[in-house]
Amino acid sequence: MSGGSLLIDNIGSLVTNDPALGRGMLGLVEDAALVVEDGVVTWAGPRQRIPEGAARERVDAEGRAVIPGFVDSHAHLVFAGDRTREFEARMSGRPYTAGGIRTTVAATRAATDDELRANLRRLVAEALRSGTTTVECKSGYGLTVEDEARSLRLAAEQADEVTYLGAHVVPPEYAGKPDAYVDLVCGEMLDACAPHARWIDVFCDRGAFDGDQTRAILAAGKERGLVPRVHAGQLGPGPGVAIAVELGAASADHVTHLSDADVEALAAGETVATLLPGAEFSTRSPYPDARRLLDAGATVALAADCNPGSSYTTNIPFCIALAVRDMNMTPAEAVWAATMGGARALRRTDVGHLAPGARADLVLLDAPSPIHLSYRPGVPLVAQVWKSGAPLLP
Ligand code: NIG
Ligand code: FE
Repeated sequence: MSGGSLLIDNIGSLVTNDPALGRGMLGLVEDAALVVEDGVVTWAGPRQRIPEGAARERVDAEGRAVIPGFVDSHAHLVFAGDRTREFEARMSGRPYTAGGIRTTVAATRAATDDELRANLRRLVAEALRSGTTTVECKSGYGLTVEDEARSLRLAAEQADEVTYLGAHVVPPEYAGKPDAYVDLVCGEMLDACAPHARWIDVFCDRGAFDGDQTRAILAAGKERGLVPRVHAGQLGPGPGVAIAVELGAASADHVTHLSDADVEALAAGETVATLLPGAEFSTRSPYPDARRLLDAGATVALAADCNPGSSYTTNIPFCIALAVRDMNMTPAEAVWAATMGGARALRRTDVGHLAPGARADLVLLDAPSPIHLSYRPGVPLVAQVWKSGAPLLP
């Protein structure tokens, strides 16, 4: 009903993410209501003050919580195949390495457009069922000019934000010639990919790309109008965070291994620290310490990092529960990070909150408060999802 008018009434606990509208960082309003006109929030507040208006479709939230749709700012959804065996081996003690990406590259290159489309559709639908209404999607499993451009074209059909990640890993045909591959990523591949993407990303880590290569690739992307985001500090400490902040990246992602200087740079700069606890869970690695970043004053986002290797989940409530239990975030900080934090990481002002003017992307929880997202881990609490005011779940 994106063209009509909707009143969601009798909301037990409404997360607006606008401290001017309610309590704390979540801008929490109890006993609340929300009005949507033509797909946009026009009013949110206590239900005693619902503005008079035209006849509306009324939804009774029956005292349950409503939150903004999750903004998943980091996902790798254009791929074929899976890596069950690799996961199984890791859970028997084998470590995660960047090299596993090449298994998915081979499967992705061999897949048809329609096979890749169908997998992407399945994952976007799966994400929606757990409350994700905005999703970013990277290339990075093609790694030829044609396969990267194709990945981005397919991503743009279904994802809200598209990121060129030609620099995911050096593909097998460039083994021993990483600089030649970097030249391709900065040259012909960038030419083919830039028209299909808003962002450029580099996996700056052990077994992937070093600092000089990362800087060169991101600078080339910037010249073509793409905005950087960086995979940094997932597998070990490195220069990725410093480069991200220096180049004005929208976000530095993973950031599990951080020096004090990295934390200070993130706190002082505009770059959002995006934490991806699904990756630590699925690689049995130590979690990042969100508290250290938050206490220093950095902006923190939470995302799922859905990919077949290191984090095969689209489920943001699962990530929220991990962040609260194992990364020293409060329940409220984790909900903010998965909504407003994700929006900040994608430089979006229309999503991630429910103040008037926001896109009416919202989630009705089968729970009285957003705290239940971490208090009731593993329980499917999403009762309904609206995108631009239209209900999307049966
Ligand atoms: O974000 N770190 C790099 N890329 C993905 C993993 C990709 C893979 O293993 O296939 C990530 O975790
Ligand atoms: Fe990733």
